[in-house]
Amino acid sequence: MKKIKWCVIGAGGIADRRTIPAIMKDEGSELVAVMDRVPEVAEAIGKKYGVAYYTEEREMLASTDADAVYIGTPVFAHKEQALTALEFGKSVFVEKPITMTSAEAEELVDAFRKAGKQLTVGYMMKHHNLHERAKAMIEGGEIGKPVSVRAKFSCWYPDIPGAWRQQKKLGGGGAFMDLGVHCAELIEYVLDDEIIEIKSMTATSTFSYEVEDSAVVIFRTKGGVLGTIEANFNISDAASTSALEIYGNSGYVSCKGTLAQTEGGTLTHLYAPQGDYSAMQDRVTSEPKTYEGEGADLYQKQIKRFGELLLAGKTDLYFAEKAVHIQKLTEMVYENAEK
Ligand SMILES: NC(=O)c1ccc[n+]([C@@H]2O[C@H](COP(=O)([O-])OP(=O)(O)OC[C@H]3O[C@@H](n4cnc5c(N)ncnc54)[C@H](O)[C@@H]3O)[C@@H](O)[C@H]2O)c1
Repeated sequence: MKKIKWCVIGAGGIADRRTIPAIMKDEGSELVAVMDRVPEVAEAIGKKYGVAYYTEEREMLASTDADAVYIGTPVFAHKEQALTALEFGKSVFVEKPITMTSAEAEELVDAFRKAGKQLTVGYMMKHHNLHERAKAMIEGGEIGKPVSVRAKFSCWYPDIPGAWRQQKKLGGGGAFMDLGVHCAELIEYVLDDEIIEIKSMTATSTFSYEVEDSAVVIFRTKGGVLGTIEANFNISDAASTSALEIYGNSGYVSCKGTLAQTEGGTLTHLYAPQGDYSAMQDRVTSEPKTYEGEGADLYQKQIKRFGELLLAGKTDLYFAEKAVHIQKLTEMVYENAEK
């Protein structure tokens, strides 16, 4: 069986925690080399997984016969490194958010389209079995017509001197750029709709870094759904309960604890169509049903799908284009917050 050979740029963070273990587990994938700007990190990760290690991406790309490159570096480095990999004829899997700006993102997707190479962005939450189920339920009319959405995603991210995510020029933004983008991508995927209008507020109320630790966005989709996204860096991990609640005119799907790196949490569904107006506001017409996350590895699902596409000799830039749109929305969020 032919395996996809992977090399990694930016090996020390999420790459080591999630993506490299997913590559190692995936039957159709093989890790051949890693690179990190920090020599000790490159060496430690190379030795941990028993592969060649480098501190320069060009040197790694010239010395290996990898088919695919995973980029797990801070956002400011994504565009240049993805273009460098493309120069070496590689397909690329870049972490979210795709780039610092939508202009950079457009440039990147255009370059991959022209070269006929695959570009995938690490929005892994759409592969969660409960998000797939929510999408199928909505498509199947099981909540009626979607009318209202609420997404919430948070963590505890205190002041850390030198942290790239806390500097606008390195991370591009704060809680929305890091967490809110996952919500926006997921909402559009699950609803099969597009956010077209937003109003937003941001604040840095708990910490002293330059980017926002709190963001609230109100949005309208093309299909007429109204909703909110709340992204916070200042809610303790234990108190952070992620949520994606979608209400239709005949019921709801409510995902709790599913916006996460693991396939856990629950989805509760209620189908409750209502006839005439009831002044009594009687609500319960049927029992809600709850489903559990299946506990699969979301990162392995991404790696597997990427590999299958390459092995079939295909490219699919649909989600990369969606990632460009998410960067446009992110810019709208920051512009509107400044008004
Ligand atoms: N999809 C997810 O679940 C998820 C989770 C966490 C982070 N991320 C994304 O992954 C990316 C990295 O985040 P992280 O938390 O792993 O960051 P990190 O700072 O923990 O790790 C980044 C690694 O890249 C290395 N690095 C920095 N600059 C480099 C450069 N120019 N060239 C090569 N190596 C370089 C660092 O030494 C470090 O080892 C970001 O885009 C982030 O948004 C995605």
